Amino acid sequence: MTDRRKFLKTAALGGAALSLGINATAADADDEKNKKKKRIPLEPFKGGLVLSTWDAGISANQAAWNTLTAGGKALDMAEKGVNDTEADFRNLSVGLGGLPDREGHTTLDACIMDSNGMAGSVMFLEHIKHPASVARRVMEKTPHVQLVGEGAYRFAISEGFPHDDFVSEEAQNAWKKWLKESKYQPIINIENHDTIGLLAMDNNGDIAGACTTSGLAYKIRGRVGDSPIIGAGLYVDNEIGAATSTGLGEAVVRTCGSFLVVELMRQGATPQQACEEAVIRIQKRHRNFQDFQVGFLAVNKAGEIGAYAVQPGFTYALYKNGENKLFKSGSLIPSK
Ligand code: GLY
Repeated sequence: MTDRRKFLKTAALGGAALSLGINATAADADDEKNKKKKRIPLEPFKGGLVLSTWDAGISANQAAWNTLTAGGKALDMAEKGVNDTEADFRNLSVGLGGLPDREGHTTLDACIMDSNGMAGSVMFLEHIKHPASVARRVMEKTPHVQLVGEGAYRFAISEGFPHDDFVSEEAQNAWKKWLKESKYQPIINIENHDTIGLLAMDNNGDIAGACTTSGLAYKIRGRVGDSPIIGAGLYVDNEIGAATSTGLGEAVVRTCGSFLVVELMRQGATPQQACEEAVIRIQKRHRNFQDFQVGFLAVNKAGEIGAYAVQPGFTYALYKNGENKLFKSGSLIPSK
């Protein structure tokens, strides 16, 4: 460091230290100590890997893997993987087959992040089959990160995505049944949705992710959960790893869940430790944590994975070393 740069740094540090009422020399020493704590970057896993939420993840992982073997990169894997779930109109919590809001309309939220830290997101989007692909276009074709509602719909149409009027009979019937006893408050104590969050690593060891959902069933019209919020439903840092979440979005948004998981990994936590810590953070912030589900998945640069949930019952699919398998996550509240 040149003398001038050293002087400017010391002066700035001294100013900050004085305004905080602490000793500049001690702060300087701490700074030096921190510099010495060099993090050893993990050797990237280059065998390809796909990790995704819930049982539908098996099929999504396969679609992502097919994309990899066809020459796709992590971002293509993430998009095509979740497209598989979005296209399954029998799924009641992802895509146009999803349970509607309390006014009877299915509205979709999705986001995507690439290995360069770029991100795109759509929220409160209607009549479009593949919100995650629209999110990718937002990332690639606009200077923005998030588009919402009518604007997101018009952008999708302008990009050539077809308007889709599909209405799920099953979802409409479930809504009509719910209407009979409807209470104007969010239902949080039933596990009624299963967002797909998918994390993909390609053969270069690069990581991308996508997350897509129809959100909480019978939500107030206009409600947006964690899934399209960068740092809540999804976060990717190609130097460290990635995380995604499922469950009650409000709890994840309040704790910046996926960002928290990745930052914990940056501080040295394993993916499993990071997911567990994020669930504990949710527990600390919510006295009613026993009434809802949240689950996290994480992968680090070395291809190690983590999974943890508030409640038992969270499943995830992992495609690694030539096998695509479903696993049960551990949980804060033990199985009975
Ligand atoms: N995790 C999905 C949602 O809360 O909308």
